[in-house]
Amino acid sequence: MEPLRIRRATMTDLDAIATHNLAIARETEGASLDRELVTEGVCAVLEESRGATRGTYFVAERDDAIVGQLLVTHEWSDWRNGWYWWIQSVYVAPRARRSGVYRALHAHVVEHARRAADVLAIKLYVDRDNRAARDTYAALGMKHARYDLYEIDLNRG
Ligand SMILES: CC(C)(COP(=O)(O)OP(=O)(O)OC[C@H]1O[C@@H](n2cnc3c(N)ncnc32)[C@H](O)[C@@H]1OP(=O)(O)O)[C@@H](O)C(=O)NCCC(=O)NCCS
Repeated sequence: MEPLRIRRATMTDLDAIATHNLAIARETEGASLDRELVTEGVCAVLEESRGATRGTYFVAERDDAIVGQLLVTHEWSDWRNGWYWWIQSVYVAPRARRSGVYRALHAHVVEHARRAADVLAIKLYVDRDNRAARDTYAALGMKHARYDLYEIDLNRG
C-alpha cells in the first residue's frame, strides 16, 4: 500500500468530491442532496485558479484513490485583525476509516495555517448527534467553543 498523500484538489476531483458531499449528508443527516446543485457548488470552488475566495479543498489520496477530503473557507475577524479558517465537508471513505486519514488532513491544514502569519484559529461546526466526528475533533485537540449557532434559512436550495 502506498503512503497517504495530501494535496490541494483540482477540477479532476470534481466528481469524487461531489459524491463524497452527497455521502456526508446521507450519513450524518439522513439528507438527500441534489447532485447537480452540489456539483455546481464544488465546481465554483475548484474553478478559482487564484484568490481562492470561496475556499480550498484538500484531498487525501492512497493508491490513486481519494480516501478523504475537507474544505477550508475563510472568515475575517475585525476584532483580531486576522483570519479564521473554517473546516467543512469532512469525509473519509468508510473502508479507510480509523487509519489516520483525517488526522493527516487535519495536520496538513494546521501546518498551513501556522505558516500563514495572519491565521488566528481553525474552527468548524458539527452536528451535535455526530458522536464519531465530535470524538475525532476532540482527539485531535480541538476545544468545544462557547458559541451557539443561529441561522435564518432562506430556502434557496
Ligand atoms: C469523522 C471522520 C472524518 C474520522 O475520520 P478517520 O480518518 O476515520 O479518523 P482518524 O483515523 O484520523 O482518527 C483520528 C482519531 O479520532 C478518533 N476517532 C476517529 N473515528 C472515531 C470514531 N468513530 N469514534 C471515536 N473516536 C474516533 C480516534 O481518537 C482516532 O485516533 P485512533 O484511531 O488512533 O484511536 C470519519 O469517520 C467520517 O468521514 N465520518 C463521516 C462523515 C462525517 O461525519 N463528517 C464530519 C461532518 S462535521
